[in-house]
Amino acid sequence: MDWQRDGFTVSTDPDRLDLTFTVGYLAQTYWGRDTAEEKIRLSIKNALNFGLYQDDGQQVGFTRVVTDYARFAWLSDVFVIDDLRGRALGKWLVDCAVNHPDLAGMSRFLLATADAHGLYRQFGFEALPKPENFMLKA
Ligand SMILES: CC(C)(COP(=O)(O)OP(=O)(O)OC[C@H]1O[C@@H](n2cnc3c(N)ncnc32)[C@H](O)[C@@H]1OP(=O)(O)O)[C@@H](O)C(=O)NCCC(=O)NCCS
Repeated sequence: MDWQRDGFTVSTDPDRLDLTFTVGYLAQTYWGRDTAEEKIRLSIKNALNFGLYQDDGQQVGFTRVVTDYARFAWLSDVFVIDDLRGRALGKWLVDCAVNHPDLAGMSRFLLATADAHGLYRQFGFEALPKPENFMLKA
């Protein structure tokens, strides 16, 4: 699926994705820097991926959703390159992902963030109502 705006495109086409760029970028994020690049590559291979592209086709952002396409989805690895931040592209990327028709009606759409709660709140994400009901095996 493709979305277009102001010369930018968001696309789920796996063939468009610049894997070297995406994996390299994620390997330097605060959440990805302790993960081997091979593992990051595998996590992308097994997800629904959204690339953000500028008008010359160069990839400038990314997010992915891990999902069973029925009840559960996990939004992850959202980024926009430094030079293009603050132009609502991150919000657009998240919008495309959470409103993808294949993800409609999820009973649990989850994510984790260290500091971007204000971004995701705009799309209906809230703090866990009963965190004591969730468990983590790290
Ligand atoms: C987060 C990120 C994707 C946002 O993309 P962006 O294109 O710069 O952001 P946008 O212009 O779409 O605006 C984001 C909105 O969320 C808000 N926000 C809240 N927390 C934020 C945060 N930690 N970083 C960026 N924006 C944040 C902004 O203030 C802005 O609010 P507004 O709608 O009132 O203007 C981008 O800053 C980025 O790549 N950051 C580094 C990677 C990262 O931290 N990813 C998120 C991991 S959970």
